[in-house]
Amino acid sequence: MSYYKIESLEEYFKHYKKSIREPRKFWGKIAEENFTWYQTWEKVMDVNLIDADIKWFTNAKLNITKNCIDRHLNKRGDKNALIFEPNNPEEETQYITYNQLYERVCQAANGLKKLGVEKGDRVCIYLPMIPELAILTLACARIGAIHSVVFAGFSSAALASRIVDCDTKLVITSDGSYRGEKQVPLKSIVDEAVKQCPSVQKVMVVKRTNIDIAWNETLDVWFEDVIANCSKNNNPEVMDAEDVLFILYTSGSTGKPKGMVHTTAGYMVYAAYSFANIFDYKEDDIYWCTADIGWITGHTYLLYGPLLNGATTVMYEGIPTYPDFGRLWQIVEKLKVTQFYTAPTLIRSLAKESTSWVDSRDLSSLKVIASVGEPLNEEAWHWYNNHVGKKKSPVIDSWWQTETGGIMLTPLPFITPTKPTYVTLPMPGIYPVLMDERNNEIEGSQVVGSLCIKYPWPSMARTIWNDHKRFKETYFSEFPGKYFSGDGALRDEVGYYRITGRVDDVVIVSGHNLGTAPIEDAINEHPAIAESAIVGYPHEIKGNALYGFITIKETGEYRDRNNLMKEINQQIANSIGPIAKLDKIQFVNGLPKTRSGKIMRRILRKIAEGDFENYGDISTLLNPEIVIEIEKGKV
Ligand code: PRX
Repeated sequence: MSYYKIESLEEYFKHYKKSIREPRKFWGKIAEENFTWYQTWEKVMDVNLIDADIKWFTNAKLNITKNCIDRHLNKRGDKNALIFEPNNPEEETQYITYNQLYERVCQAANGLKKLGVEKGDRVCIYLPMIPELAILTLACARIGAIHSVVFAGFSSAALASRIVDCDTKLVITSDGSYRGEKQVPLKSIVDEAVKQCPSVQKVMVVKRTNIDIAWNETLDVWFEDVIANCSKNNNPEVMDAEDVLFILYTSGSTGKPKGMVHTTAGYMVYAAYSFANIFDYKEDDIYWCTADIGWITGHTYLLYGPLLNGATTVMYEGIPTYPDFGRLWQIVEKLKVTQFYTAPTLIRSLAKESTSWVDSRDLSSLKVIASVGEPLNEEAWHWYNNHVGKKKSPVIDSWWQTETGGIMLTPLPFITPTKPTYVTLPMPGIYPVLMDERNNEIEGSQVVGSLCIKYPWPSMARTIWNDHKRFKETYFSEFPGKYFSGDGALRDEVGYYRITGRVDDVVIVSGHNLGTAPIEDAINEHPAIAESAIVGYPHEIKGNALYGFITIKETGEYRDRNNLMKEINQQIANSIGPIAKLDKIQFVNGLPKTRSGKIMRRILRKIAEGDFENYGDISTLLNPEIVIEIEKGKV
């Protein structure tokens, strides 16, 4: 029995107590026994949560890619590190061993250096789910460049704002990408974006779809040309524990996305430790996480967590419904996948199709099936359990966030009894508390409150890029000295947690974290629009969908409403991406506001849900008549 792996519920409670009582000893031992360091730390942690000043493993020196790749080469050189499953099932699956991954990452790292990328420089990666995305992300980490992976479904405006925010020197993209039957011209999206980005010195292009692209001689370079004469060996950069590993943007309740900053050592330790335990990882497993590397789930549990454990990780380029609704299960059968980690929205969308798509496939290799990103509702939980897990693979509903770096609340497979819609218990080292509005910890069971984490943990975000003030205000001010997640939660009689949803202006649509403010900003730019308020409402497949209450300027009154709706959604797609489009639009003559002029979104949320009765206290409402009018016009 190793200290690293938890083998029983009894051991979980023992580890848990120890981790909370003696966190330095707990994390120190895990860090010491499981990784390669150039130099170990002075202090395991040095944290002040009041000031949001967070350091782990101070002064330790390491390189995360040495831990992900080099140290496995002796024992696992010929083992598959990455299995790439292309969009088109006719195209061959690619198997990349640890030896090959080493060579490709080193060569790419040398290529980046050749382009002048240095330690600390920011590199924006806007690539589809192809091996080069993993390889170039690791290549950045190898040379100490900070990767900022932007999901390749974002629009050029959203991409540009992320490039500008962190002064990116190099942008990496591909000519195009495959999405089912469609092709997306990624390079032209990048061309549009970099027009507004003076910091960008080069755009490196990976060949994928072989479409014609515009070429800028001073800016553009082909990846294959850059690495052509580069060595396949590379000495990794020696990084400090607190050197920035990556920036990953997430939505907030204001218009500007937040560049969450994760650093090297603490992130590495928690990614590896949590992966090993949560997925009950064993040496010959074939692990598959369906998330894109553009999201935190892809960073921690497709890339770093598995590779740190010497695992085989599957990367799928395409969509779940191409060429048919059975594609995912065909891949599980073909690759003999043992762990499957996905999102509730995907489960719900496949659950509405015939069960023969899943039942006709041999899924007997599966041991653990997991979910993340939004609440896994009861119906979806049972479908997943019955048809995918066949009631023998535990359903692991895991709660965490871009900010937390790794999974925080989750059952451990074969150890924690699961309960539909509950994310159950905290990981060792994680101390959740529920807070009331007066900043008191809520004790006991069957209670609901704001979910906070009381003590620091290694993989917590350190800051928001260039905006530590916002970091402190967003996460450590509402409940001083504690990390505030922005989610509400319930604790039941056995201490299990259930996430009740966001308590701020963020809506989770199909597992994507969307701030309503940037969507409103995008709509308000339309010349015919006076004002808008966006809220989420429950949706069968997406979990939540977006409902827009929109007022039109007098000058816009003549416009055709159907066209206007299309224009609004186009405007959103251009400025954020198609994921943020509105499902319902209601044109209204005014919005319910408080006397101080603030829109009462609470009322609009209720109207969008179809609940016209439970508005709560509306005594500060300036214009109650508008509420009746909006109720009548509900779409
Ligand atoms: O509201 C919670 C929801 O997703 C939010 C975090 O989104 P993001 O930073 O994009 O990271 C998603 C992947 C880690 C949370 O604040 N959320 C995440 N997991 C769950 C969840 N809601 C309910 N149940 C979950 N298992």
